[in-house]
Amino acid sequence: MKMIFLGPPGAGKGTMASKVKAAMGIPHISTGELFRDNVSRQTELGLQVKSIMDRGDLVPDDLTVAMVKERLERPDAEKGYILDGFPRTIPQAEALAKIVELDCVVNFSCSDEELIRRLTGRRQCPKCGRIYHIAFMPPKAEGVCDDDGATLSIRADDTLEAVQNRLEVYEAATKPLISWYTNNGLIKTVDASAAPDAVFDFVKDALEI
Ligand code: AP5
Ligand code: MG
Repeated sequence: MKMIFLGPPGAGKGTMASKVKAAMGIPHISTGELFRDNVSRQTELGLQVKSIMDRGDLVPDDLTVAMVKERLERPDAEKGYILDGFPRTIPQAEALAKIVELDCVVNFSCSDEELIRRLTGRRQCPKCGRIYHIAFMPPKAEGVCDDDGATLSIRADDTLEAVQNRLEVYEAATKPLISWYTNNGLIKTVDASAAPDAVFDFVKDALEI
């Protein structure tokens, strides 16, 4: 199954994608994670995008589409995948439509107040990528990943200033995709403001799994 997880920053796309990945055995392809991996390895792409990401702006469409096309050509993407955070603009959606026939678009809906609470309390494992929240999904030992013992980190774009910009960028560039995919008949909206287990149930219902 080929699906998109669409939604504002902090809605829980990454958290739910790792659960669906485990349930369905298909890759979780997050453009944000792919970019962050390039930033941490200091590749040419990483050096190009670091300051854009830190401010919470969008990476140009041509760089993003080229990176996604390359990723979708890998053998593990043959049977399906969860695209998390892509597409994020109409031109990206148009480019994707030329190469892929999608099965479902899950739209995560959540209030700005809740998004800000989630993003400003998020912690992530730099080694395995597992996502935590200091209050809503805390690790067993403070500041340490349950799975591998690595020290949790705070994303560079989770400052209040960058979060506010990311929410504005979402409204202007990404929200129009809801109507775009509604017109294509693919969208299913879930209430992402609920507790994690309830959101996962909504996502499973949307995907009919
Ligand atoms: P990206 O990494 O995609 O960030 P984002 O879209 O801003 O979304 P987040 O990862 O912040 O949130 P999420 O929805 O995954 O929430 P999470 O599960 O972590 O992109 C980063 C940057 O890369 C962009 O700003 C841009 O610069 C660039 N980029 C990426 N894609 C691009 C593209 N296509 N085009 C151009 N540029 C691109 O959860 C958040 C927190 O909430 C966590 O702490 C979690 O524990 C908690 N939480 C999750 N669910 C719940 C729940 N149900 N209840 C309570 N807490 C919860
Ligand atoms: Mg994410």
